[in-house]
Amino acid sequence: MQPILPIDGLETLLPPAAAHEELCTADELHTAFPDDADMITRSFCQDKKPGGVMPTPKELLDLQKQLGLDFKDPNGGNGVGGNPAFAVLAHSSALTARRVSTITPTTFVFTPPPPDGSKPTGQYSVLAFDPGEQFVEVASYDPTAMKMNFYVVFFDKDCTKAGCSNGDLLTNTLTTGWSNVRVYEDTTALNNTIFDCHVCHQPKDSGEPFLRMQEIAAPFTHWMSPQTEGGRALLADFHEAHPTEDYGGIPATLLDKSDPSKLAALVTQAGAGAQPNAFPSAIIEAELKASAPGQPVVNDPPGTSATWQSLYDKAAEGLFIAPPYHDVKATDPTKLAAMTNAYKSWSPGGADLPEIRDVFLDTALRDMGFAPKAGLSGRGLLVQMCQECHNANLDPTVSRDLFRTDELAKMTREERDLAIMRLNVQQTSRLTMPPPLFHTITDAERTQMIDELKKDPSAP
Ligand code: HEC
Ligand code: HEC
Repeated sequence: MQPILPIDGLETLLPPAAAHEELCTADELHTAFPDDADMITRSFCQDKKPGGVMPTPKELLDLQKQLGLDFKDPNGGNGVGGNPAFAVLAHSSALTARRVSTITPTTFVFTPPPPDGSKPTGQYSVLAFDPGEQFVEVASYDPTAMKMNFYVVFFDKDCTKAGCSNGDLLTNTLTTGWSNVRVYEDTTALNNTIFDCHVCHQPKDSGEPFLRMQEIAAPFTHWMSPQTEGGRALLADFHEAHPTEDYGGIPATLLDKSDPSKLAALVTQAGAGAQPNAFPSAIIEAELKASAPGQPVVNDPPGTSATWQSLYDKAAEGLFIAPPYHDVKATDPTKLAAMTNAYKSWSPGGADLPEIRDVFLDTALRDMGFAPKAGLSGRGLLVQMCQECHNANLDPTVSRDLFRTDELAKMTREERDLAIMRLNVQQTSRLTMPPPLFHTITDAERTQMIDELKKDPSAP
């Protein structure tokens, strides 16, 4: 099973013009709309002001400028001298985690947190770059509503209609040549698609949306950083493929200044310092090193950590999203070397690039949460593979709330049959479950889940 995005995944969203109207309709709270809203709304809805025009960003840099997140001094520092703050992540547990590694890391460019450690109260934003995808994710704070808002910004490229090549999407050309830029908030129909941000950023419908960072304490295991041993090992792998190029909206001259402590500070100051199922990096890295002395540079054979195992087990019980992998490196050294060579020898006009994001250690996919824990029962598989998006805490108004894995016993025969159908749907469809971008399963595991769903609902 390939971790693909469905081709019809956006079918249920409003067309661009209607989406713009939805974004740009003022409510009673905002008396100076759009200027007193979050930066996404403020910048994209300027046409609602007399004489104002809607911006049409042509590249990532234009969007960065709209959000005040462009680099003023490529030879300066991280979050100082007018530059935004930034951090680069080599292994993620977010929406496009399955695409993120040292060769195609995700970048976060954000408004620097107040240096005095206070709560940021003005307009501020975090831009998350999704490697190889025709969208970026943004969290943007609305100081009037005092709320963190989550958006996907989709864009087209010239190749979009005909189908983009890997060379178009997996090199820095992804960040330029944008058109048809459209913005969807997670309070719209987006919340009934696999792009729903609530799953992780507002897992309890009754709670407030919040920023995420599971590895929020030093040494920030999977974050690139010149300050930590692991961070340096990840930077070294990154530079094998990208010795001197701009990447994910960050100038080449600055990439080595990636600093996860700045994002940790922002997340904490914004009030989300206590993360669900947080990943205690220092303890886990110490246990790993004791188990496998070549860590963090050598990750095959992998290390072990009892602390990590208990986080993983809680996630497998459906209580939280998966923790990141235990080792610093999530990549297969042989695959990574091959893809690094392919990337370095690629030139426009020649043969297409291979899918360079396919560099994970196959044997570690279960520990990364992309595939289920080995040896689970049919019910256990349903919990680990479905519950994060199908549980009673989430927004009850979305249709997928009809299927709740945490209340399997209450589920009707009809709903069970629908779930069986969805487990059998062709994998390129948006209807396929579990969504392969998040979780991939074997045929035997699929059969086990179907057998469980075939049982009489009233049976224990
Ligand atoms: C499967 C869980 C998951 C989903 C779904 C998800 N995120 Fe996240 N998000 C995370 C995690 C975990 C992080 C921390 C960094 C990482 O692991 O990549 C994060 C980080 C972010 C950040 C950087 C700021 C921060 O919170 O640290 C932004 C911006 C963001 N996500 C936006 C979104 C948007 C917009 C959506 C919906 C389109 C979304 N996310 C959906 C889990 C998720
Ligand atoms: C990443 C989030 C995610 C995961 C994981 C997930 N789903 Fe879904 N599921 C959705 C979304 C979003 C919808 C609503 C849109 C749609 O109907 O396709 C949905 C809809 C459904 C529906 C239709 C509910 C109804 O009555 O309309 C069923 C049944 C379903 N999923 C079953 C499953 C099963 C079984 C699994 C695990 C094997 C699973 N899902 C895992 C996101 C997810």
